[in-house]
Amino acid sequence: MKLWGGRFTKATNELVHNFNASISFDQKFYKEDIEGSIAHVTMLARQQIITNADKESIITGLKSILADIESGKLEIDGTYEDIHSFVEAHLTERIGEAGKKLHTGRSRNDQVALDMKLYTRKEIFEINSLLKDLLESLLKIIKENTDTIMPGFTHLQKAQPITLAHHIGAYFEMFKRDRSRLTDIYERMNYCPLGSGALAGTTYPLDREYTAKFLNFKGPALNSIDAVSDRDYLIEFLSAMSIIMMHLSRFCEEITIWNSNEYQFIEIDDSYSTGSSIMPQKKNPDIAELIRGKTGRVYGTLMSLLTTMKGLSLAYNKDMQEDKELVFDAIDTTKGCILLFKGMFDTLTFNKDNMRKSAEGGFTNATDAADYLVNHGIPFRDAHTIIGQLVLYCIDNNKSLNELSLDEYKAICPIFEKDIYDAISMETCIKKRNTIGAPGPKAMEQTIATYEKYLKND
Ligand code: ARG
Repeated sequence: MKLWGGRFTKATNELVHNFNASISFDQKFYKEDIEGSIAHVTMLARQQIITNADKESIITGLKSILADIESGKLEIDGTYEDIHSFVEAHLTERIGEAGKKLHTGRSRNDQVALDMKLYTRKEIFEINSLLKDLLESLLKIIKENTDTIMPGFTHLQKAQPITLAHHIGAYFEMFKRDRSRLTDIYERMNYCPLGSGALAGTTYPLDREYTAKFLNFKGPALNSIDAVSDRDYLIEFLSAMSIIMMHLSRFCEEITIWNSNEYQFIEIDDSYSTGSSIMPQKKNPDIAELIRGKTGRVYGTLMSLLTTMKGLSLAYNKDMQEDKELVFDAIDTTKGCILLFKGMFDTLTFNKDNMRKSAEGGFTNATDAADYLVNHGIPFRDAHTIIGQLVLYCIDNNKSLNELSLDEYKAICPIFEKDIYDAISMETCIKKRNTIGAPGPKAMEQTIATYEKYLKND
């Protein structure tokens, strides 16, 4: 049952077997394990290290194992140490002697490094495409809301008027960066460890260029010690997932605030909300909260793997087996959260009137009032002071800037004329902000065109 029984005189203690075994989780990459083995034996035959007949028989055996696992005919059982032992044992059982040649010139160290890379590559691609779907959802709302006015905040205090499109656009940028981070990781990790052996290569004339190409890598990893002990790409991947989760979490925090009784900017759909067992009136944003909560869990995987790796001498050490459950859990969590978030976002109702009313309060147009004075020749710093005095006056008299009479304006600064009202209307505040990246209609039109092109060219 074991791949290494020869040197041992005693059976493994049962607790040791269970503690050491990885099959309960590394069975996740049975497909990649078989794919890697097919590449390896194809190359072995090309290099005349094994015969073509053995190669054919091994590949047929591996493919039948794959088919039987997929159809449920062959169950991956926990008596084996890992998925590599499981596949090899079943291969030999099915095809006899030739099966014992599969592991020629290979170690489980380069094998597991390969399997994990193949698996990670696929998952990077999947997360990237889930993010793309989410971006499509965001862009739809952006396009529909270029004139939906809402307050922009700093310090969670009303700051200046913006649009819903502009606000959602900020998240579009974040998820766009997340995708480019994933692409970077993919590019950097895409070198094949197969053929590195345990750590020092092998004495067989393996063609590593060939297997690398066969498996769609850019080339073979160039140092066999590094190739079997590199987990940087997993740490980078966990870091990228942590950042995705951080972005989702910030978005969820805002959704929770916007959905609150006090704000009522949005309403989360019933199908994405939950109730209370005691308070009949409650409709809670549990999904947003849970995504926010699960962020901590993904951060944890990053810290765990960083810590696991920090003291390891070269090359492979068993500690590295810990990488798998961490990465698998982070992948499942992140993918689940992106999907759930998209569903919740797609079904949100935006209460545009409430957003607009909120933007009108809190003196969000004070900067524009100061800009009015600057346009009439007053230095900005003085304009800032004058508007500050006006705001104070408004607070004392329970008014907003647009509710002041012209006489009240003039009492503080005679430069004000009738056109101040138009200059500080919510529409003007938005319309005039057309620098690149701003919420104004011209700026947004350009941004939207860029986003459309970005999604189309992908
Ligand atoms: N299950 C092991 C892992 O995940 C596979 C590699 C085993 N290599 C070894 N030298 N024991 O890391």
